[in-house]
Amino acid sequence: MGKKWLKIVYEEKNSSKLKKHYRGWAKEYDNDIKDWGYAYPKQLRKIIDKQVKIPRKSKILDAGCGTGYVAETLKELKFTNIIGLDYSEDMLKIAKSKNIYRRLICQSLNKKTSLRSNQFDVILCTGVLTSGHVGPNAIKELIRLTKKNGYLILSISEAIFEKLGFKKELERRKNELKTKIISNRFVATPNNSHSAYSRMYVLTKV
Ligand SMILES: C[S@@+](CC[C@H](N)C(=O)[O-])C[C@H]1O[C@@H](n2cnc3c(N)ncnc32)[C@H](O)[C@@H]1O
Repeated sequence: MGKKWLKIVYEEKNSSKLKKHYRGWAKEYDNDIKDWGYAYPKQLRKIIDKQVKIPRKSKILDAGCGTGYVAETLKELKFTNIIGLDYSEDMLKIAKSKNIYRRLICQSLNKKTSLRSNQFDVILCTGVLTSGHVGPNAIKELIRLTKKNGYLILSISEAIFEKLGFKKELERRKNELKTKIISNRFVATPNNSHSAYSRMYVLTKV
């Protein structure tokens, strides 16, 4: 059953239809991505353990938090000030049940959010900047929300990095962002045949 969802959500071009897909998938999402060996929790742990010093009191926005599957790693690492944002109420309902987040916000990242500028030490965004989901224009919004010297930790798939304009957008923003880390390529969901290569980008807001 679960196998189909990855293909469905990453091939959907319409944002309202995509939201309906996540309504259908929400309850099974964690089991499925666990089965597929979802790589982002491990990648995040590596960044925090070995590559970037992030104080445990940092105010973190999990942008496109979904069910909170990746933020479970932040909880394990003893981060306590995490705010989740997603446009799917169904995904947020699961996230709420985990008691990871201080606050959950239901908004779209494809528009300017109602959140105050320069307030987050870290913005995490995994599995979200991709086709049918959230486009490169959101990078401007994520920068706006980040404090000076704060970090953006983003996953972006190789296949759409240039094609959907993420590369161009990051180049356009080069006066606002300094690249700290670009990870090696890795397979995002190794046990699913629709998987793609992805990379983690850690960027500092200058
Ligand atoms: C593949 S899931 C990733 C969830 C989580 N970050 C993770 O890594 O498990 C993609 C998430 O993006 C959310 N999403 C898609 N379009 C969005 C939009 N325009 N604004 C906010 N969230 C969106 C979906 O509701 C879904 O929860």
